[in-house]
Amino acid sequence: MSSTREVYVSRLQAEHLYKVFGRRPEAAVQRLESGTDRDELRADGTTAAVIDASFEVEAGQIFVVMGLSGSGKSTLLRMLNGLLEPTAGRVLFDGQDLTALAPRDLRAVRSRKISMVFQHFALFPHRSVLENAAYGLEVQGVPRAERQERAAEALELAGLKGWETSWPDQLSGGMQQRVGLARALATDADLLLMDESFSALDPLIRRDMQDQLLDLQTRLKKTIVFITHDLNEAMRLGDRIAVMRDGRIVQNGTAEDILVRPANDYVASFIQDVDRSRVLTAGSIMNTGAVAPDGAVTVPAGTPVAELFAPLARSTDPVTVTDEQGEPAGVVTRDLLLAALGEEPEVVPAPRAPETAETGKSPEAGKTAEAGEPAEAATPARADEAEVSARA
Ligand SMILES: Nc1ncnc2c1ncn2[C@@H]1O[C@H](COP(=O)(O)OP(=O)(O)OP(=O)(O)O)[C@@H](O)[C@H]1O
Ligand SMILES: [Mg+2]
Repeated sequence: MSSTREVYVSRLQAEHLYKVFGRRPEAAVQRLESGTDRDELRADGTTAAVIDASFEVEAGQIFVVMGLSGSGKSTLLRMLNGLLEPTAGRVLFDGQDLTALAPRDLRAVRSRKISMVFQHFALFPHRSVLENAAYGLEVQGVPRAERQERAAEALELAGLKGWETSWPDQLSGGMQQRVGLARALATDADLLLMDESFSALDPLIRRDMQDQLLDLQTRLKKTIVFITHDLNEAMRLGDRIAVMRDGRIVQNGTAEDILVRPANDYVASFIQDVDRSRVLTAGSIMNTGAVAPDGAVTVPAGTPVAELFAPLARSTDPVTVTDEQGEPAGVVTRDLLLAALGEEPEVVPAPRAPETAETGKSPEAGKTAEAGEPAEAATPARADEAEVSARA
């Protein structure tokens, strides 16, 4: 065997991550490992926000973390860029252990390679849209001319060409959010961490932003961790989806895995409202043992079954499904289509009332201090934190 064989490394790996807030967090991790319930810890005033989270994100993937309020999504995300130090476990980025880096090295990785986009992106009101988009580059010390050029490109990517000289208050909420996205894109960071970035937007604008992100992704191939509490959004965007409940990842799979094989009743209860016809694909429901007559409509295997209604309504002929090589791989008939949509997962009880972060403080408050890092006045990370507190 050749010694030069490349060792395959995922872009981002979380290994047995824990984050416990409160007294004696390490002891709490041991108790969790030996089977103590999260609620028991809660009774002692200790919050296990993330429990034993492990997953891998491949380059170019959109990895979605989904869960109810308080399930630990933001805490998990903040450990991925080192804003929060894990109580236990490791984060590997391009094979490099972020948890072992010296603060200065960590800040360097964070400012060059990782960008965060928050739910409410606070723009600087007295700076133009262009200057706002260039902010991350300014912090990196990129010369003015270059950063303006790169920011203008990023604004164009985010659909804001022509708005460069406007002021933030001349933009709608959705457009302001795009400036936030442009700021993240301008830095060339190829890991984007997006925390409920579209959640504050109206449904139509939100959908538009999702489309824009998917479109950008086909060109830019960033690695994205996207947090949402909306399963339809998760299913539209996610190459993989991790479902969190009470600090734990209870399922990690593709949209189709989650829809067709929910890991437990909790996940099943989430998917009740999902539009199955947009998640299931022709390839997943086809009959591989049959062929359609000549002249039948042909679709690629990845086509959402929603798009099969029209051809199957028009004709009693089945639709031919082709594989990646364009060769016929099977057919979908009317019966198959209806059966696939009718198949409901077992009816399950509603999830327990979501745990909210109503501890008398904003859920985001106090997290900066938790990171246990020295003040870093003008780094993008701090700027991001400032944006977080600005929304509080
Ligand atoms: N700095 C902190 N100190 C104490 N507890 C915290 C802190 N940050 C988060 N928590 C707690 O950890 C748990 C997970 O919080 P987190 O913000 O990660 O949830 P979330 O899934 O992002 O929720 P949301 O959807 O509301 O944003 C909650 O119980 C929260 O109260
Ligand atoms: Mg959150």
